[in-house]
Amino acid sequence: MASAAPTITTATLPLRSGTTIPQVGLGVWQAPQGTATRESVIAAFELGYRHVDTARIYRNEADVGAAVKEANVPRSEIFVTTKLWNDDQGYDAALHAFDKSLERLGLEYVNLYLLHWPVPGKRLESWRALEKLFDDKRARAIGVSNFLVPHLQELLGKAKHAPHVDQIELTPFLQRRDTRALCKEHGIVVEAYSPLTRGERLAHPVIVEIARTVARTPAQVMLRWGVQHGHVILPKSVHRDRIAENAALFDFALDARAMQQLDALDEGLATGWDPAEQA
Ligand SMILES: NC(=O)c1ccc[n+]([C@@H]2O[C@H](COP(=O)([O-])OP(=O)(O)OC[C@H]3O[C@@H](n4cnc5c(N)ncnc54)[C@H](OP(=O)(O)O)[C@@H]3O)[C@@H](O)[C@H]2O)c1
Repeated sequence: MASAAPTITTATLPLRSGTTIPQVGLGVWQAPQGTATRESVIAAFELGYRHVDTARIYRNEADVGAAVKEANVPRSEIFVTTKLWNDDQGYDAALHAFDKSLERLGLEYVNLYLLHWPVPGKRLESWRALEKLFDDKRARAIGVSNFLVPHLQELLGKAKHAPHVDQIELTPFLQRRDTRALCKEHGIVVEAYSPLTRGERLAHPVIVEIARTVARTPAQVMLRWGVQHGHVILPKSVHRDRIAENAALFDFALDARAMQQLDALDEGLATGWDPAEQA
């Protein structure tokens, strides 16, 4: 991949862990194992990204780790997230799985470790393992993913450390307002996954019309909506031009009318498995 491209600086948000998180991160779910993932992560770093979101189940932690090593950016400036998969939940199993993830990443710590799903009967025990990893400074922040209001309320009632982050599917077409409100109340940063609706609503007429008005792309409009609501956004692409496009979000703004139009698009569109079905 060519290296000449404008450098993009993304904003950062504070976490209750005492660290900060870059507001745009590169997602790598379904980025193929090997060169494709490594090159897209390196391209992202060259373009100014400082945040990458992987998971054990994506099977590309080793490629992400290789890119972190190869990139011309100090480790201290890079924010790496990985996640505990469902069949590794439970206290001892979670600690073991974390060691394995670190090994594959080739890192001494991760910036954020997430419970990938609220697995019934296991999630509280798994959370205690994440609390230990945080206390031991091996995970500089800890959080959950796919936790909706009932899952969060249960956890907040029992946890020693409240999660620093909740990563959920979030777009103008799936707004999860009750979960966002609870996160706000407890100082939990919301991360938006599948922030482009996996492409399903990029041609929606309201998105296309706002994009025309601000002279940006539909993808940038959808992502900027999340930025203005204070979410971390995790767009995935393996194409350098789109990786650049998806972070070029800080030199324009959506006005109040555009934000209202986007806020009115909620249709409960979950493009993936809906955690509301998880007891
Ligand atoms: N915690 C969880 O349970 C969970 C679940 C799902 C996702 N995630 C995280 O969120 C990240 C993103 O979610 P996602 O991959 O489901 O979906 P997404 O980011 O909403 O969409 C990705 C799709 O959009 C395409 N795309 C990217 N940029 C584009 C652009 N500017 N214009 C048009 N199309 C574009 C990509 O294709 P190309 O790659 O070909 O460009 C890919 O097909 C994941 O990679 C993962 O890190 C987490």
